[in-house]
Order: sequence, then structure tokens, then C-alpha cells
Amino acid sequence: MNVTAESGSPFEKGHDLVAVLVAEGEDGKRAGVLADADAATGGALARAMSAGDFGGKLKETLVLYPGDGARAKRIVLVGVGARDRVDRTSIRRAAGEVARAARRLSARKVAIAASPRVQRVGAAVAAEAMTEGAILASYEFDDWKSGDDAKKGKKAKAKRATHDGGDLAIGRLAIHASDRGDLRAVKEAVRRAEIVANATNMTRQIGNQPGNSCTPTWLANQAKAMARKVGLSCKVLSEKDMERLGMGSLLGVSQGSDEPATLTILEHKPRAARGTVVLVGKGVTFDSGGISIKPAAQMWDMKYDKMGACAVFGAMNAIARLGLPLHVVGLMPATENLPGARARKPGDVSRAMNGKTIEVQNTDAEGRLILADALCYAQRYDPDLVIDLATLTGACVIALGSVNAAIYSTDDGVRDGLVSAGRDTDDRVWPMPLDDDYAELLKSDTADVKNIGGRAGGSITAARFLQHFVGDHPWVHLDIAGTAWEKSSSRDYLGGGATGFGVRLLTRYLEARAAASNGSPKTKKKSKKKKAKQKKPK
Ligand code: BES
Ligand code: MN
Ligand code: ZN
Repeated sequence: MNVTAESGSPFEKGHDLVAVLVAEGEDGKRAGVLADADAATGGALARAMSAGDFGGKLKETLVLYPGDGARAKRIVLVGVGARDRVDRTSIRRAAGEVARAARRLSARKVAIAASPRVQRVGAAVAAEAMTEGAILASYEFDDWKSGDDAKKGKKAKAKRATHDGGDLAIGRLAIHASDRGDLRAVKEAVRRAEIVANATNMTRQIGNQPGNSCTPTWLANQAKAMARKVGLSCKVLSEKDMERLGMGSLLGVSQGSDEPATLTILEHKPRAARGTVVLVGKGVTFDSGGISIKPAAQMWDMKYDKMGACAVFGAMNAIARLGLPLHVVGLMPATENLPGARARKPGDVSRAMNGKTIEVQNTDAEGRLILADALCYAQRYDPDLVIDLATLTGACVIALGSVNAAIYSTDDGVRDGLVSAGRDTDDRVWPMPLDDDYAELLKSDTADVKNIGGRAGGSITAARFLQHFVGDHPWVHLDIAGTAWEKSSSRDYLGGGATGFGVRLLTRYLEARAAASNGSPKTKKKSKKKKAKQKKPK
């Protein structure tokens, strides 16, 4: 999608559709874009409003047709809801409605403008939310729909080999700044939002692929291709490499499947980096449960068990394109979890990279097993922060539904930063505890630790398990089991399937983190001993 920021009247530019976002109780005859739209339609806008045909309720729409003077083909009014509750979320939702209208009307060239009341949230904030909502709602996963057009089938096949953002309803999108003076800020907001929203669609596009299409090897290849495009470095560890590194926990999960596991490492290393952050994402490309097999109902949803890794993929893309002044490493451990003849059996013992032994009492608690080795590996970068994302537990879905992801953090400041980034982006997170008491539930008679802690507090014991493999750096774990593919009502600008949860959250948080350390490049104090011991990342 081609996205631009523009000023001047949107009605004079030959768009297929000009959308105007309007809050409840606004006057169609007053100044600004509403008055212009009214003029362009020969007064139809004001007449429609006074007739009560359009009140500005959230997601309410009304299509109007301009008179002979205007070049725009159609105008659509889209409601943003109550005037005192206009915010990023309501603007995104309204912009999502614009994309739906564009799809319905086959409008490819679309402009969006905001009424004076909507602009009051700030021209840049409004522009960012409009861009995001429109791009995210434009995405549709249709790779495997052959349709009635043979050509389309051919195109779809080619698309599967790419990591781009899929088919979009809108082709060209112009975001209109009402005030010329705002244009610079609006341009920057649009540029940023375009990067982040497309990265989110990329995550959704890979995430929506079925398990037979997205294997661990395919995922790694997509990462390589994406990295080449945006200037990230990319390295893929093979099962041989994992053996050499002692990643027995990850390999234990993989051995039940014929598809080899991969661990993809994406790295963004700008010259003036302000600290190192490692992102880790669970990439189980299909989770059958293994020998502790899952029931058949809804098992198909377990193709989404790779969404943590997909979020890392998208976040790394956005971070590279934004040129974030942070050293960021993205780790994507990927495997299938299948009950093959060589699969791990309940009671088997694995040894992780840090030497700890794990009694695998339930082979369906596999996410934590692959993250264990990836978290050990993260320590090689001597990070200032490690954040992992995983569709880790059904218990998290029971606790928080699809509205919030669970956040566990060993650092209160980082947690607060992520909670606030979550409010801004609609990738919301809610704090959960990490008390030592929960660790008791993971004691094993046979090994150092076992991989399940019982039904009670299932998301918490999973987090507590991961902590066994984390170094002495701040660490955050996000359980995204409920949010990765089930959208909540405030995120209804997303279509069905994968939501791309985490991309907007991580990007926003890391941007804020980089800005906060502005002017103070990393001068981390380290003891000589620790420095000497520190291994070079491979
Ligand atoms: N991938 C699942 C968690 C999951 C389930 C995510 C449903 C989203 C929806 C994970 O690997 C898993 O199977 N967890 C088990 C752990 C249990 C065996 C301790 C679970 O939550 O049931
Ligand atoms: Mn599982
Ligand atoms: Zn899983």
C-alpha cells in the first residue's frame, strides 16, 4: 500500500473514496473538512445530519455522492462516537470501518480526513491512528482461496513464498492534515504508523499460514529474506548447532517430528546503540500436544502456536525500518510438537543449555521447553533486557480472555513502560505475579525441575518455570495465548485470524526506551570478571 500525508482539500484529488471521521454532535455546516464536504455534496451532508441519518456513532457510516464540481467519486462519513471519548482506539476503529467500506465499494484510492473534533486529540496522534486502523483493517488472509479466477490461484501461489503483508483492500491511502502547519508532524506520524502496521500485517500473514505451509525451516527462510530486505543480519541454527550448544530441551520437543527444528537469530546493530535488548518468541509451528496429545476440538488453532516468534519477526522488521538506536536481537526457536515414534514420553528427562535437568511430565507443556534453551542463549548477548512472547498456556486465556496478555516482569519500571505502551497501542498487557512460592509447585523427584505445576495458576507456574533459565538481567515474559489470534472488541479493526499482537507493543515500548536514554549511550558498569567471562555472541 502506498501511504502519503497530504494537506489541502481531499475532495479535489480524484480519490475513489474520501472518508471523513466525525464525532457525535458535530455540526456539518461549521468550518473545516465537514464544511468542505458539505459544499462538495451541495449541502447533502448537512441535510443528512439534520434529518438524523448520520449521528457520528462509533462505526456508523453514510456514503454521499459529490456534485459535478468535485473530483472525488464518493464521500463516506464514519462515526468516531462520543465527542468526549475520542481517542486512539476509537479513531483506529473508525478507520477500520473506512477500509471495510473501501473493500465493499471496490475503492482502491482512498483518502481519510478527520473532523475538527477528532483532530483535537492532536493532528499527529489522529494521523497515526487513522493510518494504523486503515492498514490493519485492509489486511485479509486469502492465500489459500482459489476463487473463480485461475490467475488469482497463480498469484496466490507466488505469494506464499513471500513474507509481505498479504492482499490489502486499499491500494493508495492519503492521510489528510487539516492544517498546513501540522503537515510535518503528520508526515512523520504516518511514516511511523505505516512501518508498524505493515510489520503487524507481516506477522499476521506468516501466522495465518497453516502448519503444512509454515514449517520451522520455512519460517527461518522467510526471516532470511525479510532480513536481507531491511538490512538486519540473520543466522539460523540447525539441530546440529543446537546439539553442540547443549540445547537438549528444545531438541527433546523436536524429536517427535520429522521436520527439523530451527533457531533463527535476527540482529539489528546500529553504530550508536543505547543498550541491548533480546526478544524471544515461541515458534511452535504446530502443537498437537505430543504424546500428551490434545483433544481434537479446536486443535487446528494450534497452527497459531508460533505467534510469539511471528511477533518477534514483525517487531524486528519495524525496528530495522525505523532505525531504532538500540541493539536488538530477535530469537525465534521453532519446532513442531508431534507424537512421532521417537517423541519425548511423559517422565522423560531433558537437559537444557544451562545444565539444568527437566522432568517432562507433560509433553504438551512444550513452549516453556523450547523457550528454556532460547532464554539461555539470550544471555550470550549480555542483554540489558530480555522480553519473551509465547502462546504459552490455556490458563492465561481463562484468566484474561482475549483483551489483555499477561505480563510477568522482574523489573517494575520496564513493566510500567510496557503497560503504558499497551494502552497506547491496544496491545494491552496486565501484570501477574512471580512469587517464589509458585516455584515450589515445579519441584521434581527425578530432575532439577518439572515442566508442569498443576492446573491452579497455570500461566504463573509456566512463567516461573521460564525464570529458571533467565540470567541476572531484567526479564519480561508475555503470555499471549489469549490475544495472538482472538481479537477483542476494542481491536475490531483487525479481521479474523492472527492479530499480530506484540508488534505494536514492542515497537512502541522500545522507541520510548530509546528516547528515554537519548544522549546517554550505554555506559554499563560491569565487573572485569564478568567481562572476561562474557562469551562472544555467535
Ligand atoms: N500452546 C499451548 C497453550 C495454548 C492453549 C494457547 C490454548 C492458546 C490456546 C501450550 O503449549 C499448552 O499446551 N499448554 C498446556 C500446558 C499444560 C499441559 C500444563 C495448557 O495450557 O493446557
Ligand atoms: Mn502444548
Ligand atoms: Zn504450545
